[in-house]
Amino acid sequence: MITDPREIYVTALKNTHALELQALQIMERQVERLENYPEMEAALRAHIAETHGQRDRLEEALASLGDAPSTLKEGFLGFVGNMMALAHVPAQDEILKNAFANQAFENFEIAAYKSLLTIGEAAGQTAHATAFTQSLREEETMAKAVADLVVPTTQRYLARTLGGGTASH
Ligand SMILES: [Fe+2]
Repeated sequence: MITDPREIYVTALKNTHALELQALQIMERQVERLENYPEMEAALRAHIAETHGQRDRLEEALASLGDAPSTLKEGFLGFVGNMMALAHVPAQDEILKNAFANQAFENFEIAAYKSLLTIGEAAGQTAHATAFTQSLREEETMAKAVADLVVPTTQRYLARTLGGGTASH
């Protein structure tokens, strides 16, 4: 039985850290393949750089509590992993699946940071609240950026498909 809110906070830090590692994997994989969607590529490249900072904030918070990040937790990431697996099946409409998955993933992260901040506050662990609030704002900005890219990405996908060009990535 968990009776120490600090323990709940440490678990939330580790889970959020694992989530950011997953985010980096997903974005790096996409960016490597993108050729015909420069706006998506630019948004992903900028957010990859931001995500390195988000990962560092979580590692600093864990270190300050005398803890270290655990290795990637497959269980916790099962849901996200399944959703993302969809996007990794090579398909003619790969870019569309990635566009949907990116929007879903950023919203998943927003929920994770809101929850982390709530747990931290309840545990009296507010030393990194400002840093995590910054991460939350970055996720919200990226969530809006990828949401705004769904329609233009679909329009380019349509144009390239109908024009006989490579449309998938
Ligand atoms: Fe993110």
